[in-house]
Amino acid sequence: MSGVNEIRSTFLDYFRKNGHEIVSSSPLVPRNDPTLMFTNAGMVQFKNVFTGLETRPYSTASTSQKVVRAGGKHNDLDNVGYTARHLTFFEMLGNFSFGDYFKERAIELAWNLVTKGFDLPKDRLLVTVYADDEEAATLWKKIAGFSDNKIIRIPTSDNFWQMGDTGPCGPCSEIFIDQGEHVWGGPPGSPEEDGDRFLEFWNLVFMQFEQTAPGERTPLPRPSIDTGMGLERMACILQGVSSVFETDLFKALIAATEDVVGAKAEGEQAASFRVIADHLRSSAFLIADGVLPSNEGRGYVLRRIMRRAMRHMQLLGAREPLMYKLLPALVGEMGRAYPELTRAEALVSETLKLEETKFRATLARGLSLLSEATETLDKGDSLDGETAFKLYDTYGFPLDLTQDALRARGIGVDLTGFNDAMQRQKAEARANWAGSGEKATESVWFELKEKFGATEFLGYDTESAEGVVQAILRDGGVVGDAKAGDTVLVVVSQTPFYGESGGQMGDTGIISSDNAKLQVTDTTKKGEGLFVHAATVLEGVLKTDEAVVLTVDHARRSKLRANHSATHLLHEALREVLGTHVAQKGSLVAPERLRFDVSHPKPMSVEELQKVEEMANAIILQNAPVTTRLMSVDDAIAEGAMALFGEKYGEEVRVVSMGTGLEGSKAGKPYSVELCGGTHVGATGDIGLVRIIGESAVGSGVRRVEAVTGEGARAYLAEQDERVKSLASMLKVQPADVLPRVEALVEERRKLEKELAEARRKLAMGGAQSGSASEVREVAGIKYLGKAVSGVEAKDLKGLVDEAKASLESGIVLLIAVSEDGKASAVTGVTADLTDKFSAVDLVRIAAAALGGKGGGGRPDMAQAGGPDGAKAAEAIEAVAAALAG
Ligand code: ALA
Repeated sequence: MSGVNEIRSTFLDYFRKNGHEIVSSSPLVPRNDPTLMFTNAGMVQFKNVFTGLETRPYSTASTSQKVVRAGGKHNDLDNVGYTARHLTFFEMLGNFSFGDYFKERAIELAWNLVTKGFDLPKDRLLVTVYADDEEAATLWKKIAGFSDNKIIRIPTSDNFWQMGDTGPCGPCSEIFIDQGEHVWGGPPGSPEEDGDRFLEFWNLVFMQFEQTAPGERTPLPRPSIDTGMGLERMACILQGVSSVFETDLFKALIAATEDVVGAKAEGEQAASFRVIADHLRSSAFLIADGVLPSNEGRGYVLRRIMRRAMRHMQLLGAREPLMYKLLPALVGEMGRAYPELTRAEALVSETLKLEETKFRATLARGLSLLSEATETLDKGDSLDGETAFKLYDTYGFPLDLTQDALRARGIGVDLTGFNDAMQRQKAEARANWAGSGEKATESVWFELKEKFGATEFLGYDTESAEGVVQAILRDGGVVGDAKAGDTVLVVVSQTPFYGESGGQMGDTGIISSDNAKLQVTDTTKKGEGLFVHAATVLEGVLKTDEAVVLTVDHARRSKLRANHSATHLLHEALREVLGTHVAQKGSLVAPERLRFDVSHPKPMSVEELQKVEEMANAIILQNAPVTTRLMSVDDAIAEGAMALFGEKYGEEVRVVSMGTGLEGSKAGKPYSVELCGGTHVGATGDIGLVRIIGESAVGSGVRRVEAVTGEGARAYLAEQDERVKSLASMLKVQPADVLPRVEALVEERRKLEKELAEARRKLAMGGAQSGSASEVREVAGIKYLGKAVSGVEAKDLKGLVDEAKASLESGIVLLIAVSEDGKASAVTGVTADLTDKFSAVDLVRIAAAALGGKGGGGRPDMAQAGGPDGAKAAEAIEAVAAALAG
């Protein structure tokens, strides 16, 4: 029963049986609290339930919560590895009551679990209570039968629990176990309390207040309970070991480290194994929750933790990146309880490997600089700030890594000197930047970035989060507030809103505070890392420094995700169908459609487009998970990731993969692998369907493919279907018979047109006998047929003239057709025996002149001309007759 996994399930099962809802751990990056660096207790996800802002369908709950205590109010980083119980990452088991039970039931539940469930000996247990909490002391006496000496009253903040500078809080009561005389230390409150003999393992917080600002507390709507038991500490107790690093889980991690580095966790180097085991856990879980190493904010805390572990790997003799090789052991131990770790295994592995590769490039040189600089220093001395800064700036040594490296020798670091050097460098950067010729309006972004650091982007994992307003801009300048009707730009400490980039449009949605509501119409990125929300204040007044809730328009973002992922699938399918010369030339990922430009020299055929669409849809049907990994550009390209030629990438790239190839060169391999910072669907099935709706040219050698997905594709196809149905009903056939019916209609029409032309011609020439005797006259001994015909098109005149010539055998013909708008076309014909006397061209010109036109052309036996004045047809006929008469 005493393995870590069993303790966790015993705890949760106990509270489930006692009517509690079992809730999953929330992520390590708190979505609901911008004031916290990392989730530092089980109650963080319930913060708003305690204060009454949020309600849940249950009033009691129990969790096993991932917790990181590094870089925030609760920071244990510096102690890790050097004490028996400090960890940066640990699991907190907790039970919660939201206005349901209070002190008595909480104490009762805890006591029964500890003494009956975990079977701890009562005589070795003792508790603390907040000094003036008589009620708690009385309850412990009643429930546990403790005498006064087992109930220690603590007057300090140790027994008043606060999540952070603000938030729910209250007096607490902690349960301790006496590990026995062989361990050094004294009971809580005694001068030896820092020793490990009396180990605190469960904290019961009687939540009664909300800290709204420093020194300001208001009572909670209903008294509540928040408890936290350190899983690793309980494992120590149940496994009879005095250090968390000797429990089953840590032993497995340390054994894996011994295997990988080929050294034993003994003597002086044992501390390194402990640091590595702890830091591996915090790094892996942070990366799995969306934090990536960077030089700012959460990413920098992660980098510090990773690099510290990596220096200890080096101390143990590692000569190449090895951290990532420990990951399978961690996933084996914890992957079942935290499936997110298993899902992110590839991302964590690549990220560890990349960071270690990068850090190793400077680690050895940094360490030798450090040992040179401290050669002459003794215990109690300090390393100068300049060198510490150089290590930081040039060799990538976070300050606390340098401190950690000197700790064993009792040497400190001159922090003032370090900070001065840092300030100097910033001032230089500012001066250089000012001279770089950027537009003045952009300088405001630079200043904001320098002041606040990059905006933390949470949008890969969540569509809603809390943040603190850092700046509001109106008309290009920073203002303190914005009121209803104002159009402003807002910068917030962290945001789930995607800033337009890589073709994907920025998110829209709502920002709201206690006093205001804003409609976000677009989000862009400025000043290398600031996310800027363009918004209109719908109501109220928004002020700088206020806490806000940011909520992305979910429906729109879902469409953007589907369209972005579909773009990747189409890209790969186009390469397979058309050839590898196909490269991305541009892309637009909008909510309602996607547009993708590729290099390809000629229009794509219907069959090619069909094949592309089929391939992309086959991967959609796989419903394969979309995975994201972080790696170096070189590794990514070696893996076959498609990168944009000529595009500038950072040292680290995000690689998005989806699907498994079904045929051709990709058979059995990851189908689409691309460098991409965009947001994507969780699994390809979420795209639903992709439908290509257009293919066109956008320049020489560049073709544009347009497509729709999901609901857009369904709507498009439904519209097409409606069209077919209307056609069918109009044609009075079944939809399946529309095509043959239309083919038959087209054929029929062709026939009718021919018949109609024939009929018109006959009619025009005055009956079956064209050129009948009645209309032919003789002029100077030559037969002349001059006639204005109606209902005949100009293009048919020549045929008629030919026929008339044939029936005359010898003679001259002039036919004039008058169009509906009164213009005349004239054609003259001269039979072969007369062409040496008369030219059709001369004659048609005469006719044309009479019709108000000029010119005319053709051959001596047939010529044509036109004139604007159709009403003068009779004059034209007579003019030609006169010409014949000579
Ligand atoms: N929130 C309390 C703690 O973290 C239980 O100790």
